[in-house]
Amino acid sequence: MTNTLKQFENTPLPSELVADLRSDHAGETGAVAIYGGILAVSRDPEVRRFAEAHRETERVHLAFFEEWMPGSTHSRLLPVWRAAGWSLGAFSALFGRNSVYRTIAAVETFVEKHYEEQIDKMEGNPEFAALTDKLKAFCAEEVEHRDDAAGRLSPPSGVAARFWSRIVGTGSSVGVALARRI
Ligand SMILES: [Fe+2]
Ligand SMILES: [Fe+2]
Repeated sequence: MTNTLKQFENTPLPSELVADLRSDHAGETGAVAIYGGILAVSRDPEVRRFAEAHRETERVHLAFFEEWMPGSTHSRLLPVWRAAGWSLGAFSALFGRNSVYRTIAAVETFVEKHYEEQIDKMEGNPEFAALTDKLKAFCAEEVEHRDDAAGRLSPPSGVAARFWSRIVGTGSSVGVALARRI
């Protein structure tokens, strides 16, 4: 791995960037938990394979932020993000595979935008080149997750589905806003 997280060890980072990374760490914590919730409820082999494969990627994402971010910079609400993620996954799995895929597609649509915004802020700054590359790689994997979920969704998606996607997107925005601060 050419990434040198250590390069930031003695560099005081802008608080805006620390806030962004805190929300990334919180988000990846929630992402691992979502799949835990799905796997706790679903007995559908296709859904379980989907969730297990995605969870592996989310664990790699989480491990990156875990390794880099000292505990003092973590969100103090991590138990909340774990519980919220797990509940979201478990709840969607209660309604079957379409509901799981719709939830993941909505979450990853949000996550792509979230990472893109951060990448835009850091792009062109050589000090953050390694971190930017890492976030780009993660973002590409989130897009794969989104496309994988969306591709498995069987149409039609009606008003209720759009409403649910909107709730998931709004919930994610609220989570990020909180995790940036607390
Ligand atoms: Fe992720
Ligand atoms: Fe993801």
